[in-house]
Amino acid sequence: MADRDLHAEILAALEFQAALGADEAILDAPADRYALAAAGAEQKKREQAAPEPAGHGGGYARPAVPAPAPQPGIDPIAEARALARAAASLDDLQAALAGFERCELKMAARSLVFSDGRPEARVMIVGEAPGRDEDIRGRPFVGRAGQLLDRMFAAIGLSRDAPDAETALYISNILPWRPPQNRDPRPEEIAMMRPFVERHIELAAPDVLVLMGNISCQAMLGRRGITRLRGHWAEVQGRPAIPMFHPAYLLRNPVAKREAWADLLDIRKRLRR
Ligand code: URA
Repeated sequence: MADRDLHAEILAALEFQAALGADEAILDAPADRYALAAAGAEQKKREQAAPEPAGHGGGYARPAVPAPAPQPGIDPIAEARALARAAASLDDLQAALAGFERCELKMAARSLVFSDGRPEARVMIVGEAPGRDEDIRGRPFVGRAGQLLDRMFAAIGLSRDAPDAETALYISNILPWRPPQNRDPRPEEIAMMRPFVERHIELAAPDVLVLMGNISCQAMLGRRGITRLRGHWAEVQGRPAIPMFHPAYLLRNPVAKREAWADLLDIRKRLRR
């Protein structure tokens, strides 16, 4: 096979893996799975031939990926609360998050995705967590869902690039680090990040909060069920907050854009009061 064909074939195989969601390196060096399978079969044959050693279960048990064990004497939520409370500005808060070592999502992520847009904006959007594009670029909502979000808010005259607070947006997420393979955040991860999000909202002090999707509603309202919650104004830290369908959901369910449009009009009405 010509070098060029081989290169194209390897690239296509890689793109296929990425499309399936295998878009991260798990080990530092490549593992030859064919060689490992052959070695495993040999090992099994040897074990079947030999008597089981005393005091040992016999056979090869693949070491399970350990669940993060709670560290004795450390209360990550209390630590998060103390750090968040001590932050006197958004820069302080970002620095506090960058130094927070209790959330294992940080270990697997490339970037801390803190915020985008203008902190003075009247509207703050709280999304769920960065995805692959956000992790690469270090900014929230920059992938396909983010492009839809930009178009949705542009339709009511708001944008993250606007120079003035009246027409600007400020955007952040419940989690600042991408969960591996975009898995749902665990309750303990949300609980750990909540003090930072609460302080983020206090410091940005928006007039209106938009809670994008179930994870944001779970974190800020303690409730899920976005189909019932959306469009109903709630209160978060004394501020009006409206749950909306997440733009990623709208990409999969375009008929729900009608409800999203109604919610956008309601936000515009609230801002004009
Ligand atoms: N989805 C989110 O909720 N946040 C992002 O930043 C990107 C996608």
